[in-house]
Amino acid sequence: MKRIVILISGRGSNMEAIVRARAAEQWPAEIAAVISNRPDAAGLAFAQSHGIATAVVDHKVFGPGQSGREAFDAELQRVIDGFAPDLVVLAGFMRILTPAFTAHYADRMLNIHPSLLPAFTGLHTHQRAIGMGCKFAGATVHFVTAELDHGAIVAQAVVPVLPGDDEAALSARVLKLEHRMYPSAVRWFVSGQLALESGRVRQLAGESQSFS
Ligand code: GAR
Repeated sequence: MKRIVILISGRGSNMEAIVRARAAEQWPAEIAAVISNRPDAAGLAFAQSHGIATAVVDHKVFGPGQSGREAFDAELQRVIDGFAPDLVVLAGFMRILTPAFTAHYADRMLNIHPSLLPAFTGLHTHQRAIGMGCKFAGATVHFVTAELDHGAIVAQAVVPVLPGDDEAALSARVLKLEHRMYPSAVRWFVSGQLALESGRVRQLAGESQSFS
């Protein structure tokens, strides 16, 4: 039985999709904990109501600058490791992570990012895609490395950008696919189907890694 720890910062709809898929599809895995860096993250209530352990590591307590960031990550790592995870899942976890933290979870931490990486790393991805006149937008699930929004790509979801789209309309269209893609990617990991070869995820047998 693989143990999954999910990190959130807010709404937690991807976390919810993963929790529901695990139960419906009876993965060989359990959600050991949901951890937030914000005490008011809405997703914490969903996790608690499903009997999942929750914890808060409030980044504001650790002060500004690089030393604050390092102290926060060290405490977060301590709390995560208390749940002995096989996999750490970043699901709308809005923190830049230190290299020591990402190295500790190398090859066992996934992230979902709302763009077709390597385009539009960072924030406001949908607004920037609209602003550039992109015809397609989407989301990417990838392994986490020290470089922000890089790392081997596990799956991608693509949607059209429609005339008149604003950020809300486009992000809602992408989010629907995120909710299909991220549970699939986590299921692949916990069932031992994700293998890294020369820094890339080996093509899965029999399942598509592209969503549309
Ligand atoms: C999702 O769209 C996710 O792709 C994005 O935040 C949203 C979280 O929604 N993640 C990032 O921007 C990470 N840089 P959720 O809390 O409802 O899952």
